[in-house]
Amino acid sequence: MTLPTSVRLVEVGPRDGLQNEKQPISVADKVRLVDDLTAAGLAYVEVGSFVSPKWVPQMAGSAEVFAGIQQKPGITYAALAPNLKGFEAALEAGVKEVAVFAAASEAFSQKNINCSIKESLERFVPVMDAAREHDIRVRGYVSCVLGCPYQGEVDLQQVAAVAAELDAMGCYEVSLGDTIGVGTAGASRKMFEVVGARVPRERLAGHFHDTYGQALANIYASLLEGIAVFDSSVAGLGGCPYAKGATGNVATEDVLYLLNGLGIHTGIDLDKLIDAGQRICTVLDKPNGSRVARARLAKA
Ligand code: HMG
Ligand code: MG
Repeated sequence: MTLPTSVRLVEVGPRDGLQNEKQPISVADKVRLVDDLTAAGLAYVEVGSFVSPKWVPQMAGSAEVFAGIQQKPGITYAALAPNLKGFEAALEAGVKEVAVFAAASEAFSQKNINCSIKESLERFVPVMDAAREHDIRVRGYVSCVLGCPYQGEVDLQQVAAVAAELDAMGCYEVSLGDTIGVGTAGASRKMFEVVGARVPRERLAGHFHDTYGQALANIYASLLEGIAVFDSSVAGLGGCPYAKGATGNVATEDVLYLLNGLGIHTGIDLDKLIDAGQRICTVLDKPNGSRVARARLAKA
């Protein structure tokens, strides 16, 4: 398999990253982060979530964040919507693209969205209908594709079945999430091979958390499987509130460095991206989770 000539990076830091932060983060700081990311050349940013504030308090101000950002043409500003209520709130906030999220593990589905996998997929049907009516694109997520914090092993056929359902429902792309970052390069290749037999690879994306330090290897393995869309989080922010111990997504800066080294086009400026990541780390008063950013900033 030859490598793709260009890759689309889906920046999930403002959502997957910040959703896990315990301390309050102002709307202004969230807005600045999103604007910094698009200024660095990211063409897709997941800005927030329209979920229950009781479940994920940090995402409560998502409508205000959408109102505050500078929305530029050609850039996708997306939000998570777990049900019709969330979709309607997103619509009200002027969101033009949403993401629904299911899991490949029953145990995780219950902990994350309080229902079975089957029930979650049923909940998405009215969301898909409403989205179609309003001309809103829907992306799908499958969590725990390479392991679950509650049940351990996850059956790849189950991953493929959930991904195929989201695809059949009308999600234009399905992002496969190693929510707890336990996957390896071999397991990632195998997973895309199995899911790729059910959903065309050009409609699949990889979403790797870096808990075990394997995310870049997993991305390289996925590139070899023909995957050309990856989710990442500036400065490696985040984790998942329902996956204890899981660290953030792979850092966008590190993925970009890998892709630049392979001569794969992304349209993103590494220096500006590093500045965006460092700024939010200063706000959060935490160390930068990107190895590339740390190395570059140490030299500056
Ligand atoms: P529930 O308690 O079962 O829902 O939660 P319910 O329908 O029984 O409603 C309970 C209350 O929530 C009601 O309010 C509803 O109005 C309200 P009350 O009457 O008690 O005042 N409610 C809502 N409020 C705001 N927005 C909504 C909404 N829906 C109901 N959309 C629910 C079910 C799905 C809402 C809840 O479990 C939830 O919000 N979960 C969110 C979980 C979450 O955001 N997890 C993190 C994102 S997923 C992730 O990180 C993985 C990913 O990155 C990929 C990967 O890494 O694998 C995507
Ligand atoms: Mg995630």
